[in-house]
Amino acid sequence: MGEYAYFQGQFVPIEEAKISIKTHAFLYGTGVFEGIRAYWNEDDQQLYVFRLLEHFQRLERSGRIFMMKSPLTVEEMVEVTVELLRKNQFKTDAYIRPILYKSGTEIGILCNKMPDDFLVFAIPFGAYLDTSKGLSVKVSSWRHLEDNMIPMRAKCNGAYAGAALAKNDAANDGYGEAIYLTSDGHVSEGTGENLFIVRNGKLITSPCTADILEGITRATVVTLAKEELGLEVEERQIDRTELYICDEAFFTGTAAEVSPITSIDHRPVGNGQVGPLSKSLQTLFFDVVKGRNPKYKHWLTPVY
Ligand SMILES: Cc1ncc(COP(=O)(O)O)c(C=O)c1O
Repeated sequence: MGEYAYFQGQFVPIEEAKISIKTHAFLYGTGVFEGIRAYWNEDDQQLYVFRLLEHFQRLERSGRIFMMKSPLTVEEMVEVTVELLRKNQFKTDAYIRPILYKSGTEIGILCNKMPDDFLVFAIPFGAYLDTSKGLSVKVSSWRHLEDNMIPMRAKCNGAYAGAALAKNDAANDGYGEAIYLTSDGHVSEGTGENLFIVRNGKLITSPCTADILEGITRATVVTLAKEELGLEVEERQIDRTELYICDEAFFTGTAAEVSPITSIDHRPVGNGQVGPLSKSLQTLFFDVVKGRNPKYKHWLTPVY
């Protein structure tokens, strides 16, 4: 059974889904995309897609920033994605990558009269970061993009060229991930993750105005922290040195899930072990996404 993609309005074998080398999005990075996870639940014999509608609502908003419009409505993109997963017959965790992009092939940057197209493919996928133990991370020397450069609020393909620089640098230096600062030197986020710290039992995360992607996992963790653990959550500017004195720190993201951090710039976070709140939130998160917590089943779309 081969894998399929939804491409140019139809389902095709994934190896046939090919764009022209003249495609505007390939030449200039003019696409917006999503990363979505689906989790296989062996007991239920079911594949659950996590917060599918919210991802396509964000894709639509990203498109609005770049004045791109999908040929499919949000609801149709949801339907096509569920159909794609069914066609692929995944019985394993999977990662879904929809892209809304400038599909014209005329050379030149101007693209406001150029057609937009939508595609989606999915692959079997395991862990992106090692969530079982803590990550060692570094503050990147690469500053994050600002809202009036390439806005991170829109999940734009081109923005991730910068992420590749920061991520590669971190990896070359033996770190698991990089933390970006904003142009004014405050904590922003990871290359593909939002960031939380814990100080005095309170969760703190950078505000949406700190050049971050408005993360769906971030919102999920805020809800779980408040509803399930009764924690206070503060969205405020974070100084770099707070990273060095916080009690706990962790990343959140669709790919990264809830990834505890145990060292930042060679300073141990807390006692250098995965913190208790990070662990509790991670456990809660995995129970929710894997369909083991009935209270949050409304966040899951069953595929079969
Ligand atoms: C730059 C960046 N920040 C944060 C996130 C986390 O967002 P979400 O939880 O919606 O996946 C991602 C991943 O999509 C990302 O690429």
